[in-house]
Amino acid sequence: MSEVMGVGIIGCGNISSAYLRLSKMFKGIEMRACADLNMDTARAQAETYGVRAHTVDEILAADDIDIIVNLTIPAAHFEVSRRVLEAGKHVFSEKPFVLSVEEGHALLDLAASKGLRVGSAPDTFLGGAHQQARALVDSGELGEITGGMASVMGRGMEMWHPNPDFFFKPGGGPVLDIGPYYITNLVQLIGPVKRVACFATTPRTKREITSEPRKGEFVTVETPTSMRAILEFNSGATVTLNTSWDVHSHGMSPIELYGEKGSIYIPDPNFFGGEVRATEGSEDRDLGAFDHPFGVPNEEHNQGKMANYRTAGLADMAAAIGEGRPHRCGQDLCLHVMEVLLALHEAGEIGEVVSLSTTCERPAAMTAADAKALMA
Ligand SMILES: NC(=O)c1ccc[n+]([C@@H]2O[C@H](COP(=O)([O-])OP(=O)(O)OC[C@H]3O[C@@H](n4cnc5c(N)ncnc54)[C@H](O)[C@@H]3O)[C@@H](O)[C@H]2O)c1
Repeated sequence: MSEVMGVGIIGCGNISSAYLRLSKMFKGIEMRACADLNMDTARAQAETYGVRAHTVDEILAADDIDIIVNLTIPAAHFEVSRRVLEAGKHVFSEKPFVLSVEEGHALLDLAASKGLRVGSAPDTFLGGAHQQARALVDSGELGEITGGMASVMGRGMEMWHPNPDFFFKPGGGPVLDIGPYYITNLVQLIGPVKRVACFATTPRTKREITSEPRKGEFVTVETPTSMRAILEFNSGATVTLNTSWDVHSHGMSPIELYGEKGSIYIPDPNFFGGEVRATEGSEDRDLGAFDHPFGVPNEEHNQGKMANYRTAGLADMAAAIGEGRPHRCGQDLCLHVMEVLLALHEAGEIGEVVSLSTTCERPAAMTAADAKALMA
C-alpha cells in the first residue's frame, strides 16, 4: 500500500466542502474523486476542489480509492457504507453512523470479514480543547469524576440549512444529530455508558423554514425535538443531558464534569477549540497554556477565528491502517455511541430505563505530538 491513501466522497452536499477543503491539512490522505446521486452536485464539487466526478458505481470501482467518506443523509448511511465495504474499501461515515444497532453490527461484521476499517465522525473530540480536558481528567487532579451535565439547546436547523427536512424525520432530532458530539466526548473522557433514562417531547409538529431557498415552506416534524435525559456510566458517574431545538435562550455550559477534587467546564464539543476552565475544590484554577495543533484557530467564523480540523479522524484512520493500530474514531466507539443515542430515543418513547448491550474502550488520547505527526 502506498504511503498516501486515495479518498473518495459519496454525498456532495453541505458538509462535503469542509472535507474537501480541510483534508489538505493532513498527510497520508488525498481526495481524488466525489460522487452523488445528483451528478450536477458531484460535478460542481469536483470542479471546485480539483477532483474527479463519478457516479456511485464508478467511485466504488475506482482502483485508486482506498477509503470512501460517506457524507450522504442519515437514512442512506447504512446502505452506502455497506456497498463501500462490499467493494473492498474502508469507510469513514458522517454521523449518525447508522440508524440501528443491528445495522451497526452488520457493518462491523462485514468489515471484519474483509479486513477493512469502519470509522465515523465526530472527530471534534480530538480537538485541542477536548484533549486538554482529557489530559486533566487522566491526570487525576480532579479526582474521580462522579457526575456532570451536558447541554445543547437552540431553535433548530430550519433557520440555516438549505434543505432541513432530514433533521425532523426519524434519524434526525437533536439527540441523533448533535448528540454524537456530546456522547462521544463524554465517552472519551469518562468511558462507556451503562444505562439511560429520558423524557422526549415534540413541542411543535410543524416548523416553518426560514432559510433560503425554501423560506416559507413547512416541515412536518416526525421525531422528538426536546429530550432530557440521565446517563449512568460504567464508572458510576451520572450525567444529565439536555438537548432541544425548542429553546430561544439559556445559561448552561456545553459540558461540566464534577470530580471528587474539583470541576471542569468544557467548551462546545461540536468544535475543536475553545476555553477549558477548571477548579480545585471550589476555587478557580489557572490552567496555563495548552499547546495542541488541533486547538489553534485557523478559520474565520461569525463568532471570530476558530479551530477547525475536521477530517483529523479520517487522517488518523488512514495512519492507523498503515501502522496497524486502532483508529480513534473507531468502530466500537461509534457503535456504542450510536446505541446510546438510540437508547435515549427508546427510553423517551417507552418511559423506562434502557440498558446498553455494547461497550467500548476509551479511544487513545491524541497528544500534541500525535496530532503534529498527522499534519502535512
Ligand atoms: N451540514 C453540516 O454542517 C453537517 C455537519 C456535521 C455533520 N453533518 C452530517 O453529514 C451528513 C450530510 O449532511 P449534509 O448537510 O451535507 O446533507 P445534504 O443534504 O446537504 O447532502 C447530502 C448529499 O448526499 C446525497 N445523497 C443522498 N443519498 C445518497 C445516496 N444513496 N447515494 C449518493 N448520494 C446520496 C444527496 O444527493 C446530497 O447531495 C449528515 O449525516 C449530517 O448529519 C452535516
